[in-house]
Amino acid sequence: MNILQTANSKLPTANSKLPTRILVTGGAGFIGSNFILHMMDKYPDYEIVNLDKLTYAGNLANLKEVENNPKYRFVAGDICDEKTVREAMEGCDFVAHFAAESHVDRSITGPAIFVKTNVIGTQVLLDVARDLKIKRFHHVSTDEVFGALPLDRPEVKFDELTPYSPRSPYSASKASSDHLVRAYFETYGLPITISNCTNNYGPFHFPEKVIPLFIINAFRDLPLPIYGAGKAVRDYLFVTDHCLAIDLILHKGKVGETYCVGGDSEKNGLDVADTILKIMDKPQSLKTFVEDRKGHDMRYAIDHAKITNELGWKPTVSFEEGMIKTINWYRHNEPWWQAIISKEYLDTNRAKANGQQSAVSSQQ
Ligand code: NAD
Ligand code: DAU
Repeated sequence: MNILQTANSKLPTANSKLPTRILVTGGAGFIGSNFILHMMDKYPDYEIVNLDKLTYAGNLANLKEVENNPKYRFVAGDICDEKTVREAMEGCDFVAHFAAESHVDRSITGPAIFVKTNVIGTQVLLDVARDLKIKRFHHVSTDEVFGALPLDRPEVKFDELTPYSPRSPYSASKASSDHLVRAYFETYGLPITISNCTNNYGPFHFPEKVIPLFIINAFRDLPLPIYGAGKAVRDYLFVTDHCLAIDLILHKGKVGETYCVGGDSEKNGLDVADTILKIMDKPQSLKTFVEDRKGHDMRYAIDHAKITNELGWKPTVSFEEGMIKTINWYRHNEPWWQAIISKEYLDTNRAKANGQQSAVSSQQ
C-alpha cells in the first residue's frame, strides 16, 4: 500500500456541509483521467480522490493539469486491497469505479488478472462502500457484456433489457462485476448505478487499442494491423461524451438502474483505418491484414433511448469530428505517446508518485 496524502485528506467527511468528495478508481487510465479533468473543471468545489494501482495502463501524465490542485488527491494502491480501499474511500460521498483490466487481447493471453481486478477488486470496493454508507456507487461497465450482434441485422442493438452473454475473458469478468454490483443493491440496498458503454476514443487513449494504435502507427509510417477482414463493427463514442453521461448518472440517475450509453457511430475496422489514413493523408498501403482475434465479437451497438429520454443525454461529437480532434491531439502531444513507446512513462509515474509522497511527508 502506498497512500499519498495531501492537506485535503484531513478535511471533514461527507456528513458535513462540505463539498462533495468523489472516489474515482482507475483515474490514471484513459477514461478515468478524462473524467477527473471533466469533473474538476465543471465542479471546482468538488474533491477528487484518485485510487489507481498504476498498472501499465495508468499514466499520471494524463493528470498533469490537476496534480497540484489542492482538491485532488492521488492514492497509489490496488482495489483488491481492502485496507487501501477503506483509507481512500473514507469521507467520500460518491464512488465512480473505472479501475479494470480493459484490453480484450490481453484477457485472451492472460485471463487471471482480469478476474482478480475486475471481479475481486469490485467486490472489495462494494464491501467497503457498504460499510462506509457511500451515497452512490457508480460502476462503469461495457457493452461487451451483452455478447455479439449479427452483422446482417443492423436494426438490432443492445439495450438495458438485453440478456448478458459475454464471450471473452474480459467481458466475462466485467459481466461478473456488473452482477455483483446489482446483487449488492438487491441484497444490501447499496445505492448503485451501472453504465454499459460502447467503444470510447479520444485524448490519453493508451496505444494498444485500435484507434490510438492506428494513429500512432500512421504517424510513424508503420503498418495498421487490421484483424481478419476488418469487418467487425464497433459503436464509437468520443470520451468526453462518456464523461458527461457518467456525470449525469452520478447526479441524476435512479438508484438501482442501468443506463446504456452509445455513440450512434458504427464503424468497422476498415472504416477506422480509412478514416485515419484520409485525415492524415497517408497511403492505403499501410493497411495490413493480420490474424483475427480469437472469438472476435463481430458487432456491438447500443440503443441509448433510456438515458436520452430520462436524463437528456445524447452523443454530441460525431465520429468525423471526434477523429479530427483525436488525431490533432496525438499530433500535438507526441511526447506523451513517445514516452509510452519508450516506456519512460513508467519512470515518470514512479517519480511523480514518489515526488508527491515526499512533498506530503515533509508537510506532516
Ligand atoms: P484503462 O485500461 O485505460 O485504465 C484502467 C486504469 O485502472 C489504469 O489507470 C490502471 O492503472 C487502473 N487499474 C488497473 N488495475 C487496478 C487495480 N487493481 N487497482 C487500482 N487501479 C487499477 O481503461 P479505460 O479504457 O479507461 O476503461 C475504464 C473503465 O471503463 C473500465 O472499467 C472499462 O471496462 C470501462 N469501459 C471502457 C471502454 C473503452 O472503450 N475504453 C468502454 C466501455 C467501458
Ligand atoms: O465496447 C467497449 C470496449 O471497447 C471496452 O469495454 C474495452 O475496454 C475496450 O478495449 C474496447 O474493446 P474492443 O476490443 O472493441 O477495442 P479494441 O480497440 O481492442 O478493438 C476494436 C476493434 O478493432 C475490434 O474489432 C478489434 C479491432 N482491432 C483491434 C486492434 C487492437 C484491429 O483490427 N487491430 C488491432 O490492432
